[in-house]
Amino acid sequence: MKYGYFDDPLREYVITRPDTPLPWINYLGCQAYFGIISNTAGGYSFYRDARLRRITRYRYNNAPYDFGGRYIYLRDDASGEFWSPSWQPTRRKLDDYSCRHGLGYTIIGSKYQGIEARTRYFVPLDENLEIWQTTVTNHRSQPAELSVFSLVEFCLWDAQDDSTNFQRNFSIGEVEIEDGVIYHKTEYRERRDHFAFFACSEKTAGFDTQRETFLGSYRGWDNPAVVESGHSGNSLAHGWAPIGSHHVKLFLPPGASRQIVLVLGYQENPRDEKFDPPDSQILNKKAAKAALAKYLLPSVADVSFEKLRRYWDELLGLCQVDTPDVHTNRMVNIWNAYQCMATFNMSRSASFFESGIGRGLGFRDSNQDLLGFVHMVPSRARERIVDLAATQLPTGGAYHQYQPLTKQGNNDIGSGFNDDPHWLILGISAYIKETGDWGILDEPVPFDNAPGSERPLYQHLQRSFRYTLDRLGPHGLPLIGRADWNDCLNLNCFSDSPGQSFQTTTNKDGKVAESIFIAALFIHAGRELAKIASHRGLPAECASYLAEVSKMEATIRKHGWDGEWFLRAYDDFGRKVGSKECAEGKIFIETQGFCTLAGIGLEDGTAERALEATRKLLATKHGIVLQQPAYSKYYLELGEISSYPPGYKENAGIFCHNNPWVIIGETRVGNGDAAHDYYTRINPSAREEISEVHRCEPYVYAQMIAGADAPTHGEAKNSWLTGTAAWNYFAITQWILGIRTDFDGLRIAPVIPGGWSGFKATRKFRSTIYQIEVQRAGSGNQVSLEVDGKPVQGNLVPLPPAGTKTVAVKATLR
Ligand code: BGC
Ligand code: NOJ
Repeated sequence: MKYGYFDDPLREYVITRPDTPLPWINYLGCQAYFGIISNTAGGYSFYRDARLRRITRYRYNNAPYDFGGRYIYLRDDASGEFWSPSWQPTRRKLDDYSCRHGLGYTIIGSKYQGIEARTRYFVPLDENLEIWQTTVTNHRSQPAELSVFSLVEFCLWDAQDDSTNFQRNFSIGEVEIEDGVIYHKTEYRERRDHFAFFACSEKTAGFDTQRETFLGSYRGWDNPAVVESGHSGNSLAHGWAPIGSHHVKLFLPPGASRQIVLVLGYQENPRDEKFDPPDSQILNKKAAKAALAKYLLPSVADVSFEKLRRYWDELLGLCQVDTPDVHTNRMVNIWNAYQCMATFNMSRSASFFESGIGRGLGFRDSNQDLLGFVHMVPSRARERIVDLAATQLPTGGAYHQYQPLTKQGNNDIGSGFNDDPHWLILGISAYIKETGDWGILDEPVPFDNAPGSERPLYQHLQRSFRYTLDRLGPHGLPLIGRADWNDCLNLNCFSDSPGQSFQTTTNKDGKVAESIFIAALFIHAGRELAKIASHRGLPAECASYLAEVSKMEATIRKHGWDGEWFLRAYDDFGRKVGSKECAEGKIFIETQGFCTLAGIGLEDGTAERALEATRKLLATKHGIVLQQPAYSKYYLELGEISSYPPGYKENAGIFCHNNPWVIIGETRVGNGDAAHDYYTRINPSAREEISEVHRCEPYVYAQMIAGADAPTHGEAKNSWLTGTAAWNYFAITQWILGIRTDFDGLRIAPVIPGGWSGFKATRKFRSTIYQIEVQRAGSGNQVSLEVDGKPVQGNLVPLPPAGTKTVAVKATLR
């Protein structure tokens, strides 16, 4: 069953009924001012940091779902009836409801008793504000007298404090009203130098800024007293809960339309220019007024919307493919790339499942997110790499997270996730491959942000590699520390007290438990580092990396192979994890995926055997589960993984992030059918038809789909902010379609399904546009290349002379 459809030419997903199984959201903003918006206008906005600069309030895990939003109420002043064109919060039955989620904007509209209202929400490029353009049309044969009420509820900036510290917060709310514009300025009198403003293009009949006046006591958002009566209270918030609401009266003859523009914005003032006049306590509104003078004009709003569309056309135009599979095309050309922008911007902070107060930017996560983002805005990728590396510790280890506003490592979580440092190597190598910017390695970057500790970025990579060699366990495998990629495999935690954090509790000294996953990651990252060292003219160093890599490979063969698949780890007692000797958790996906992706076992058939075991024991029709059999009870020595009910999350859920590792593994053994089949099983577009089972948005990946052990097998959770986005993008574009960036050029090495006759692609790479045509002339994956009509040996398209605009590449598969 579907709840809408893809409008591919417009690059929109159109939701045709408001009661989707879960709120289906979109993101507004892609630079500094951000918001999430659901298909019923729920959501919130923030500036840079969803925790520390929350502009509007949202209530997570509420009943009904999804409260707090960008609401418009309409009231028929003749009958007194009122409704929400976005369905929530009044939930009156609407005609012609639709929500179009597009790239950086959302349009929600409907008809009710002949009155149509449609609102386009977006954040213009380079501005710290959002625009709501509402068009109201009277389709009745009679004139209509209407009232329009806008509504936002302000958050008192620190979202965590806002939802807990009521003894203070009920007394601090402050606003100013000037020329009908509502300014929210809580805490501005003291240490804050920022405020929010909410303005309306039309003459207002009234306003409200105190929630209780607007709602009336003991009333909800579905039934506000002010909307019911048709009269604003002109309330001034002092403490309690500041809101922003305008009241506009409309008289619409039959067939007439009117547009109302609402602008919600964020403004920071220089410290010494906070007040105007300077010796007063009145907000200096100069900059905000200038922005309003511009954006309240519908024509300016239209132009900035067109700019936003062009921006996305350009970004997506960097890589476009035309394959025989509509789901591949749609995801690569539109939604998967778009999701990669969201994960790059948000990391794992703000979604319907991430509350914006839980996590900063993850070191591991953000480095992986680069794999899907780096081709879009390389300059921002570069900045992110430098920020991440600056939180690396002198040991080579890394803070697991940092706050985007301060860019400092997060002390509460600390470090000790022993996989972390290697993701930096992979992030940087992806960046250099994309851009050819070798100069980044000479950039001076501090450790732990300590002034004076700056070293060339290259040294950070050296220390990342060294970190593992300094921490080897009894089998010569890397010690796992608090966890590796699998945050829930906590082998040194031994937590027996409720409420303890699995990620930060450590009861063992960590000298025994080892990770075969980190060993594979070390091999993969080590090979990249060796290439980088060789390029820097350091052959001895390159050779030493390769020697360590070979040694680790031998160790995996000796201590990391279980006979039919790769082991996962050794626990604190030195016992195997992910082995046929185990009662539960006999086989794990991570090592089958990452070892084969890293090319381990390609020569002796072990890679193929690991992939066979994966197919036999882990693959389901909804994707590949994380391990089997699921843990049926809590294992003190394994940690959080066994805390989840079977089939959920890391306990045998389909963790979509690691499915692409198997997909890449399958391409490495030349099996394009299996690779694309796995790709399709978790492709959200291919799952659209079963939206009642999948339940999350059909246009973006979710972190998890319930595994076969769960009663809800096939149900997705935690959509949007997941490494799944980058890894799937990387797997399909670089490994299945095989358009692979490399240090010395673009490689064309497709491993596509046998049934495909070929495909076409356009890829911009280092300022040149590659027009690629792949044709199948046999059943294998052997590539013959013709570049601009001339045959080229191998599968690497050599870099063209500087200034070359386009290159035509023809690849024939035999
Ligand atoms: C989740 C993991 C996540 C971790 C982050 C755990 O509860 O299961 O998926 O990575 O929290 O801290
Ligand atoms: C989600 C976390 O963000 C990521 O860092 C981790 O690798 C996976 N969960 C698996 O536990």
